[in-house]
Amino acid sequence: METPSNPLMTVVDVPALAEIAHARGALLVVDNTFATPYLQQPLALGADIVVHSTTKYIGGHSDVVGGAVVLGSDDAAADLAEKVAFQQFAVGAVSGPLDAYLTTRGLKTLGVRMDRHCSNAQAVAEHLVGHPGVERVLYPGLPDHPGHELATRQMSGYGAWSPSSWPAGSPRRGRSPRPPGCSCSPSLWAASSP
Ligand SMILES: Cc1ncc(COP(=O)(O)O)c(C=O)c1O
Repeated sequence: METPSNPLMTVVDVPALAEIAHARGALLVVDNTFATPYLQQPLALGADIVVHSTTKYIGGHSDVVGGAVVLGSDDAAADLAEKVAFQQFAVGAVSGPLDAYLTTRGLKTLGVRMDRHCSNAQAVAEHLVGHPGVERVLYPGLPDHPGHELATRQMSGYGAWSPSSWPAGSPRRGRSPRPPGCSCSPSLWAASSP
């Protein structure tokens, strides 16, 4: 599962889902790309495996493509780590040296970038809530978002993405409303994103 989800920022209760999964002998895998490890740590919330697209906030500069699988440090995780390592060996999913360098360099500024992304997203969301042409704004940092309380419990910030839509019938429907001063960015994770 993925929380918050792309693109609608649906927030899912990780501890509750971990309990359901474990009661049935299943593993819980969380895609933590949108939250990043800075805002949410699913292993500490009960997940067994965390995956990230490091292409996005972790890399942070739109100059690298990659992914990461993160496991815990107990015995069960050691078994999983062996299986993941075999897949990596067999399939060849190994980062090239320059990609690995760019990813670890991006990681060093993840915290400061996420702080700014979150405050920008909150400001954009609040601006759009009052916009007469906007139908809905789905940012968990807004108190009336259905996932607001849950996000407050399991995240240390509400994320950097504030989806919104024009009302039905609007000629601009299908395009994201953009507040004044925000440039159009080709990605949702770059330092250049609003
Ligand atoms: C939540 C999430 N996970 C994974 C991916 C895949 O990312 P990548 O472009 O690195 O393959 C995406 C891409 O948009 C995503 O939004």
